[in-house]
Amino acid sequence: MPEAKIAPSILAGDFANLESECKRMMKCGSDWLHIDIMDGHFVPNLTIGAPVVTCIRGALPKGESFFDCHMMVSEPERWVDDFANAGGDLYCFHYEATSEHEALIDKIHAAGMRAGCAIKPKTPASAVFDLVPKLDMVLVMTVEPGFGGQKFMKDCMPKVEELRSKFPDLDIEVDGGLSNDTIDFAADAGANVIVAGTGVFKAKDPQEAIAALRAAVNKRQLK
Ligand code: DX5
Ligand code: ZN
Repeated sequence: MPEAKIAPSILAGDFANLESECKRMMKCGSDWLHIDIMDGHFVPNLTIGAPVVTCIRGALPKGESFFDCHMMVSEPERWVDDFANAGGDLYCFHYEATSEHEALIDKIHAAGMRAGCAIKPKTPASAVFDLVPKLDMVLVMTVEPGFGGQKFMKDCMPKVEELRSKFPDLDIEVDGGLSNDTIDFAADAGANVIVAGTGVFKAKDPQEAIAALRAAVNKRQLK
């Protein structure tokens, strides 16, 4: 199984101080920064676009921090170049948002980013099986996308188990409701990339929270 990567979701941070929030998370030991892009169409909420990512990238040089861009948008093809230019490292589109999966993955790679594919709770893991050879990551959503602070859906774990047993070396990310209370379910199922918004930003000690998430994933790897 690939190594643990902890990716705090800056959606739970203070948007008035994104630079310091991102730097604070890097200092606290995060591996990646998870950036939630919502278009008010694919999901019923709006967040940020490429211009904001460009600004954060200006404050956190490439190579020193990894931007995991979770694209909760319709027409994901439209924004690939903008996010590559903005300094995105990984472009994770939603399976449900396009019918041209392979062409989109090629476009993301041609733009110099890693390609991820996210599946909503009702989308089966089998939807992405044929795409995995081309993908760098699969994101199994553990809430309905659109809002932070929702309850972790444990019933999505069989999908993680299915993917892990078929693809031992794949980066499998989980996103939504992850915290100290729920991490063991995800880690036991085989997830290794852990997104946490509320669970890290609202923790009394974010550094400790990140370390605990990592320890839970690593403990599973030793089994
Ligand atoms: C939800 C987003 C998540 C969200 C997670 O649509 O994709 O990344 O920020 O937030 P928590 O960890 O608070 O559930
Ligand atoms: Zn997300």
